[in-house]
Amino acid sequence: MMSLFSFSHYKFLWRCSIAFAFFLTLFFIANSLTLQAQSTSTPCNKDPYKQLNLILNQNGTVTRPDKPPDSPPAEDPTLLVLSKDLSINRSKGTWARLYLPRAAQHQRSKLPLVVFFHGGGFIFLSAGSTIFHEFCFNMANDVVAVVASVEYRLAPEHRLPAAYDDAVEALQWIKASQDDWLKNLVDYSNVFLMGSSAGGNIAYNAGLRAAAAADYQIPKIKGLILVQPFFSGTRRTGSERRLANEPHLGHCFNDAMWELSLPVGVDRDHEYCNPTARKGPARLELIEKVGWWVLVTGCGGDPLVDRQVQLVKLMKKKGVKVVGHFTPGDYHGIQDSDPLKAKVLYGVIKTFISALN
Ligand SMILES: *[C@@H]1O[C@H](CO)[C@@H](O)[C@H](O)[C@H]1NC(C)=O
Ligand SMILES: *[C@@H]1O[C@H](CO)[C@@H](O)[C@H](O)[C@H]1NC(C)=O
Repeated sequence: MMSLFSFSHYKFLWRCSIAFAFFLTLFFIANSLTLQAQSTSTPCNKDPYKQLNLILNQNGTVTRPDKPPDSPPAEDPTLLVLSKDLSINRSKGTWARLYLPRAAQHQRSKLPLVVFFHGGGFIFLSAGSTIFHEFCFNMANDVVAVVASVEYRLAPEHRLPAAYDDAVEALQWIKASQDDWLKNLVDYSNVFLMGSSAGGNIAYNAGLRAAAAADYQIPKIKGLILVQPFFSGTRRTGSERRLANEPHLGHCFNDAMWELSLPVGVDRDHEYCNPTARKGPARLELIEKVGWWVLVTGCGGDPLVDRQVQLVKLMKKKGVKVVGHFTPGDYHGIQDSDPLKAKVLYGVIKTFISALN
């Protein structure tokens, strides 16, 4: 597997990573001076429900008044990508939306499978949300892969590890599925777990479980694709302090989401939250053992970037085959609102997947 380093793609990716790291450094130096003033901040609402604009109903359910729009799947053969929903576990309300590039139906070779977990701080959004529907639709088309976007249970009704349980159940379901797209068109030796933001955290934690089980019930995973993964810790990093009031993931919002998604009573160095603290580094060795490749992407305008860089460093130290792709500027979740940024990301993912084939 080490020979992969010599692939031109990889040289390119590595060079990019180094170049971006360099830009990132310059970016930080420039910005730490100007942004420091802003970090003496608006106080957070002490009630995390109010902070996130959630309503806790008397019957124990939670209402999310700001719910963004959903999009239905469509098997319309005139579309570039066909999509459909399949139930995973009715009693939990979990399901997957599958995306199939139209052209692939007539292709002889089977396609890679990207199992995707959406973002939303473990609390918001759905595999049916329009932003993720469009993201996965375009990703299936550009990367030329089948995408399975997983609907998992949300916090605070279902705190972690419920989402990880659902993710692993989704993998078992995929392996056993008799669905004709999965059965006939997917190469089960070419499977990637991917997620953005909280979904990146889920891909990581479910990946560790899958690596530990590594049994025949789960498809053979080749790698993890962690797009701006959502992690935290008890101590704030430099980028979190510098970008404390950042409008997309400022610390009031960030803190409230962890408060309502982690198991009650644990702190933020818990293994679900901080992969570099306590048991984290030892758990990570599993990825080295199973030999997966990992792609971590991030950007300089995301308060989480220092943690993501730290994670890449720790993985390298542990001998995990990891590619860090960091760009200057931008903000957390930019690929969900900027189609051009999403397109660039699909290119990075396609390069990553094809270099392993
Ligand atoms: C719980 O209360 C909310 C708000 O009053 C309501 O919309 C919902 O249907 C109720 N759910 C159940 C299961 O009773
Ligand atoms: C669905 O989830 C329930 C609750 O966790 C579990 O008991 C059951 O075995 C699951 N069903 C299937 C078909 O996997």
